[in-house]
Amino acid sequence: MEAIDAFDQFYRSVYHDRWSNLRSALAEKPLQVKRLNMFMKNFDLKASDPVETWASNCFSVEQTFEPQVQACGLIDFFVMDLASFIVANILEVQENDRVLDMCAAPGGKALILAEKLGPNSQLVLNELSRTRFHRLKRVLEAYVPQDVLERISFRSYDATKWGIYEIDAYDRILVDVPCSAEAHLLRNLSEMQKWSPKRSKRLAQRQYALLCSALLAARPESTIVYSTCSISPLENDGVLHKLKRKKGDLFEFEVPISPLGERTEFGWQILPDQHQWGPMYFSVLRKLNY
Ligand SMILES: C[S@@+](CC[C@H](N)C(=O)[O-])C[C@H]1O[C@@H](n2cnc3c(N)ncnc32)[C@H](O)[C@@H]1O
Repeated sequence: MEAIDAFDQFYRSVYHDRWSNLRSALAEKPLQVKRLNMFMKNFDLKASDPVETWASNCFSVEQTFEPQVQACGLIDFFVMDLASFIVANILEVQENDRVLDMCAAPGGKALILAEKLGPNSQLVLNELSRTRFHRLKRVLEAYVPQDVLERISFRSYDATKWGIYEIDAYDRILVDVPCSAEAHLLRNLSEMQKWSPKRSKRLAQRQYALLCSALLAARPESTIVYSTCSISPLENDGVLHKLKRKKGDLFEFEVPISPLGERTEFGWQILPDQHQWGPMYFSVLRKLNY
């Protein structure tokens, strides 16, 4: 069977009557917002209306829009999906936190985490791929002022092993894992050849390893946000289900309020057929004091 037929068969069995509309929404050009770089002090927004009342610094992108370097040397806007904005904010970084972003490139969510750092906080940004690591550094250097960059460190490790080396070390961890990225496959049909249900299972194993590693690296009482841009239940609730079964005594689920999306067993899913934005899945965990 062709990969695309197997793909349709698999997702139709998950989403049933919803699949045809969801498939069309995923295949469309992604909707994005331009988010103001919050390090730009007193920036003149020329009376623009935000796209959503709860996202006061996110605006619609006009066709000709290009982010610009402003006089202060920083770029003014970052173009991103509103669902990514929600995930980065749901981590709720506080002024004195030590924060780890395990899979950070290209860096859209990392920028939001960086904006919340206080003078005593620290942010560690990790990315395994060397090319993406350099891209991540370039993004942060273009948007973040020097005094804040001094509180950010860049690493390029396999984050599945992080928890072996640093235990009980972070107050907040973002685990934004590599995933099937089905919307990307539908928009790039040559990439679709890579898809198979086995590939989603293999990714789910890697995602589980990343999440276990985060659980070790997190301090007791700390928060972990697990997120994917996959619509595969194996990579979303499936990973959390396994974690609950194998390590359920180490954490509990938090139930945040998301401004968008549908509740799933262990988190939230934002899908573009119903909510315009996404796809995005996230689940929030609190490590217990054991
Ligand atoms: C979904 S992307 C992250 C997107 C990023 N958080 C953002 O908002 O821009 C997942 C990233 O994880 C990286 N990655 C894959 N396996 C990894 C591993 N074992 N350790 C660290 N990073 C990894 C990939 O190269 C990819 O850049």
